[in-house]
Amino acid sequence: PFLNLITKQNDKLYFGTATNNVQLNDTAYAAILDDSRMFGQITAANSMKWFDTEPERGHFTFQDGDVIRDLAKRNGQLLRGHNCVWHNQLPDWVANGSFTKPDLLDVVKTHCGTLVGHYRDSWDIVNEVLNDDGTFREDIFFNTTGSEYIPTAFHAARAADPHAKLYANDFNIEGINAKSEAYRNLIPQLRKQGVPIDGIGIQSHLIVGQLPTDMKENMEAFTAIGLEVAITELDIRMTLPETEELLEQQKKDYATVIEACNAVKGCVGITVWDFSDKYSWVPGSFAGQGAACPWDENMKEKPAFFGIVEGF
Ligand code: XIL
Repeated sequence: PFLNLITKQNDKLYFGTATNNVQLNDTAYAAILDDSRMFGQITAANSMKWFDTEPERGHFTFQDGDVIRDLAKRNGQLLRGHNCVWHNQLPDWVANGSFTKPDLLDVVKTHCGTLVGHYRDSWDIVNEVLNDDGTFREDIFFNTTGSEYIPTAFHAARAADPHAKLYANDFNIEGINAKSEAYRNLIPQLRKQGVPIDGIGIQSHLIVGQLPTDMKENMEAFTAIGLEVAITELDIRMTLPETEELLEQQKKDYATVIEACNAVKGCVGITVWDFSDKYSWVPGSFAGQGAACPWDENMKEKPAFFGIVEGF
């Protein structure tokens, strides 16, 4: 089955994947990626991030991102920009720079405005700005500007493209908890001050057998305050080695996530954080864990893939 053909039939959600430039030469991989029947949406996993798009101040490099954008364009796939402001994968001049507050706000404004002006569609404007307890993350942006960099980033994005969907994106906001509640406080507050925020991206880096039980209620709580919701980075990891039992539970878990989004008016789509275990970020970031994706390392569909089919 082809997932994007299925989602087109229900005419509601898109199904997409993250991808990276380095793996586009893998022909077995590219055959699946580069097929609009399978994916209706693409996110660049790395190549639109700050280190790759503005490696020196005011010097913008779009070569890598453009390759991903052109692939999506050729297939009529939606593009999701990821991301404008994040504490990770920053170039040295930002990560180790010393800025006054007005100077760093100017840097943020130029960066977001230029990126969103270049790549339109939907954007993760700010990524991971809160801690799990709902307080602001104390990164270079917060430590220099307080939370002011957030309005600055969104305003610059809106000025660059009046039609782009502008999102805040984060992890550990899949269920109702201190962090998701903090976003439900923060975003309306910002909107009241005129900050243009359209949606919340729920990353959804989940663990087999440990899904929050209130994902649907959580998404509804976001749509109730007028936000669009997207599942932006779905993967469901397990402690290795994989077993038949774990793969079956993973199938159920993928189905559960898709069903939850499907059931919520205002959940616009689901993106997996790469579709093949061969290119998943999980083993490199969580010791001893992996096998988080719906396709295996040989580009064969896993039970999880059929869980997704069932979920739609
Ligand atoms: C990850 C990429 O997949 C890796 O290739 C890279 O080394 C680190 O970043 N949350 C995010 C993504 O918002 O940008 C991260 O992507 C995964 C966690």
